[in-house]
Amino acid sequence: MKRHYFYFLLLLSVFGTGVGCLRQSDIVLADFEGDNYGTWQVEGEAFGSAPARGTLEAQMDVSGFEGSRLANSYYGGDDTRGMLVSPSFVVERDYVNFLIGGGKGEDVYMELVVGDSAVRIAHSPAESERLMRLSWDVRDLRGEQAVIRIVDNQRGGWGHILVDQIELSNRDKSGVIENYELTFETDQPYLLVPIDDNAPEMRVQLKVDGRVAGAPMNIRIARGEPVYWLPIPIDRYDATSVSLVFALFEKDNPGPGRITPAATFDYEYAEPYRPLYHFSPPYGWMNDPNGMVYKDGEYHLYYQHNPYGSTWGNMHWGHAVSRDLRHWEYLPVALAPDSLGTIFSGSAVVDHDNTAGFGAGAIVAIYTSDGRMQTQCIAYSTDGGRTFTKYAHNPVLVDAAYRDFRDPKVFWHATSRQWVMVLATTQTVSIYGSPDLKTWTKQSEFGEGLGAHGSVWECPDLFPLQTPDGRTKWVMLVSLNDGPNGGSATQYFIGDFDGRTFRADPRSYPLWIDHGRANYAGVTWNDVPASDGRRLFIGWMCNWEYGNLTPTCNFRNAMTVPRELSLVSDGHQLVLSSYPVRELEQMRVPQLSQKDVTVDTVYRIDELMSVNDGAYELELSVVPSSASGFDLVLSNAEGEHIDLHFDLNTARLGIDHAQSGKAEHVGNFTKVIEAPLTPAGHYKVRLLIDRASMECFINEGRTVSTNLIFPTSPYNTLTVKAAGAPVVVKQLDVYALK
Ligand code: FRU
Repeated sequence: MKRHYFYFLLLLSVFGTGVGCLRQSDIVLADFEGDNYGTWQVEGEAFGSAPARGTLEAQMDVSGFEGSRLANSYYGGDDTRGMLVSPSFVVERDYVNFLIGGGKGEDVYMELVVGDSAVRIAHSPAESERLMRLSWDVRDLRGEQAVIRIVDNQRGGWGHILVDQIELSNRDKSGVIENYELTFETDQPYLLVPIDDNAPEMRVQLKVDGRVAGAPMNIRIARGEPVYWLPIPIDRYDATSVSLVFALFEKDNPGPGRITPAATFDYEYAEPYRPLYHFSPPYGWMNDPNGMVYKDGEYHLYYQHNPYGSTWGNMHWGHAVSRDLRHWEYLPVALAPDSLGTIFSGSAVVDHDNTAGFGAGAIVAIYTSDGRMQTQCIAYSTDGGRTFTKYAHNPVLVDAAYRDFRDPKVFWHATSRQWVMVLATTQTVSIYGSPDLKTWTKQSEFGEGLGAHGSVWECPDLFPLQTPDGRTKWVMLVSLNDGPNGGSATQYFIGDFDGRTFRADPRSYPLWIDHGRANYAGVTWNDVPASDGRRLFIGWMCNWEYGNLTPTCNFRNAMTVPRELSLVSDGHQLVLSSYPVRELEQMRVPQLSQKDVTVDTVYRIDELMSVNDGAYELELSVVPSSASGFDLVLSNAEGEHIDLHFDLNTARLGIDHAQSGKAEHVGNFTKVIEAPLTPAGHYKVRLLIDRASMECFINEGRTVSTNLIFPTSPYNTLTVKAAGAPVVVKQLDVYALK
């Protein structure tokens, strides 16, 4: 009996404690729903005199709070400061749960104070106007008397804090875990990560055998069904355990749980808009061409690359080489982000005379580190550009006066026996000189008030070319997002350079290397042998207006074909022509050839080739005689078409691609793309088409227009239309390109 009674008591106490726990309801310390702060003490101006009804004036949309109000220190903008202090309370539960958002700087925070000490502190986990629920474990503080202080002591960007729904509870309600570590015991070479380009970025740090490896990665890990997979290569570490540390791990996100070690990485190369003869990255994102240099039979092409997603971010230098400018071999990533920042655009040189001391013939890369500020850094390779060692005393060029300070193009200037760097400095190009690639002295600045200035200047280049009458002139290239047809384009200047200063000839600027909407950030190869004598160029075949939105999946975007640049006359003055390198002609497989076709009004070739895989070339020579113009229309069975309208009265080419195929992703497709024509007795039109692009060269590249197209099947029909009077197609050739 006694014993039963004992068990009964024991049961009651266990059960009772449990029920007691459950019964201990949450204590709301603040829900900020009133029309004043009630018993909370308000200091300064930042929090106003009452909780905010969500978003304040000039603030981005505030979300994630409860009810209709919250504490928001954006009253008067970011510059105001202030503090909210709670009445004193007893820590009667195991956790303090709260919603927090705003800036994540050191001087915007919420703290729990016991006696004179702050015993807990919380910052918004991200710079975000969406509040997230965090939690403090206060089991060790139960029974203590405490206050909470919400502090905004920061001026300037993200100098505000958002707080709501502070409660004492026996349940940890936080939705996120900070610095959550996911560990894999594996000897496989890859971790495969499920990606969705529309998912928010997660900040992830790789750790190898417990040590931090590389800079943090920003990865758009798929929350739902993975759209595609990308690898984090881990074989180079030879480790037994690798882990991924998530700066902010959302407990209800199943994405990270799908990350898995793998022996292979098989990506889907053959997408419908994957070009067949243009360079595109194996997977992930690509923008500017970088570090182009020729050495020992190889053309190196490095490029702005995100290996962790098909949208811009995590800038690395990807790498490929070619021996013939037609086929490209993919090589491992050459430069990865470090504590100075991500790796932005730059160039590479061969240091024949060992001026830098890294070895005669070393390839030295000069690039921008994009970190807290933009600085110039160098790295060298003694294995033919395969692997690079970063210089121990980077950065080699810093100037705090410039926020936009980037894209160094370096070359050896034989006459002044020094290295010359052209660097984009906001809206000018600064020219520096160096004896050793390590110490740089500013020589001059070019471009103030000259040419197009609608956005910051990027990716300059400076090089000599021969004029048709045998003189040497220098050409300066500058890219900017204010092109003649909207968005990204590259302008050029022609002038003289003495090793210190570039002086542009007095001309009517801007002049554009390409009038299309898809040729940006192009620069030229260093060290092409003098025996070759060509100035070789490649550009990013895209536009920042839609670069991240083009309808591909595993990879995004391609380069133009390599082109040769020359100075030619347009009848009045020098212009810069760009024309596909002759190597590309070796890909030609003739399909159709016609001569001397007189087109009275309309002439149509229904089938350009019997098997059309979307990679081909058309070359036409049109003599307009007395016609006022002519049209070339390429179309497919789906009724999609692109129209090239040659208006000889106004001497303009208009490319209409409004109906060219898919257009919803890439915006502005309804606008006709214009280019000036140099009047001539005949127009030689060369069109290079490769699945998702059309490069149009007129009269050996005097007029160029490079554009993207997304037809649902290759255009296989050509229509020639004459306006005003008949035109003669002297010659027409169609080639498949293999
Ligand atoms: C040009 C650019 C460069 C920069 C790089 C970053 O497209 O904005 O100025 O170095 O892209 O990826």
